[in-house]
Amino acid sequence: MEKLFQHKVLVISGGLGDIGRAICLEFAKQGAAIAIGDLQDEKDAHAFLDKLKQEYNVSSYYTQVDISDSIAVDKWLKDVEQQLGLPVLIISNAATVTQASIHEIRPEEWSRELRVNLDGAFNLTQKATKRMVEADMKGHVIFIGSWAAEAVHPGLPAYCVSKAGLRMLCKCMALELAPHGIMVNEVAPGYVEAGLSAEIWAKNPVLIQEAAKKVPIGKIMSATAVAQQVVHLCHPSNEHITGSTLLMDGGLSLRSL
Ligand SMILES: NC(=O)c1ccc[n+]([C@@H]2O[C@H](COP(=O)([O-])OP(=O)(O)OC[C@H]3O[C@@H](n4cnc5c(N)ncnc54)[C@H](O)[C@@H]3O)[C@@H](O)[C@H]2O)c1
Repeated sequence: MEKLFQHKVLVISGGLGDIGRAICLEFAKQGAAIAIGDLQDEKDAHAFLDKLKQEYNVSSYYTQVDISDSIAVDKWLKDVEQQLGLPVLIISNAATVTQASIHEIRPEEWSRELRVNLDGAFNLTQKATKRMVEADMKGHVIFIGSWAAEAVHPGLPAYCVSKAGLRMLCKCMALELAPHGIMVNEVAPGYVEAGLSAEIWAKNPVLIQEAAKKVPIGKIMSATAVAQQVVHLCHPSNEHITGSTLLMDGGLSLRSL
């Protein structure tokens, strides 16, 4: 039986991170070829690319790229097209987090975070969808947002602002690309055992229990749970959802912190 994303190419920024890897695995399981861009060194990608090949028999391609560098992103996408074909599943996932209050955050930290989280998302999705339109290819764009676009997180101003901006970028892009059959959506997770949160919780396991208690459904989600919702929105049966945010925060944003 043909797999869901057989003969399709997925491109993802920050694909060597925790949620990024989970997304790559879920799509590889469904036959997609996987193009990963990340800041990390090429040698850090080898074991993961081998895993994709051995477990799911899909092609993959890694590029060390800074998503905030628009010229580098352009070159990356051209290489991907040559190596694997034109991506039609575009996943904007790379992000950084600076923990600093409004008065503490330095201007260069503020700018860097917006350049990576927001400009980076724009760089990837603008260029990738332009090629899709030129080639008359339909597909999906998914922004990995956050419930931080929904509720104020003390000490994370640049992160909250970048994720709020991403939400409007998603809507603007969805409207313009709808006539071309390109569906654009956001998956906005709450507490995920991934990235910086996972690092903090690993050092102090009491904190993860406290975090889970804050979530109305009483549990923290895995990176795989996030990845499964990305697959859900990219499913070929999705012919109508565009410009939407799939808020998956276990009810966190329904109550104040
Ligand atoms: N972990 C959580 O609790 C959580 C919650 C909500 C949303 N998110 C979002 O999920 C996404 C993935 O986060 P994660 O938890 O897997 O974190 P992570 O730190 O494990 O992964 C982020 C990846 O992005 C890469 N990256 C950072 N800057 C980059 C740049 N300039 N260019 C290219 N790559 C870059 C990093 O090297 C890393 O591999 C992010 O958008 C994050 O905001 C995470």
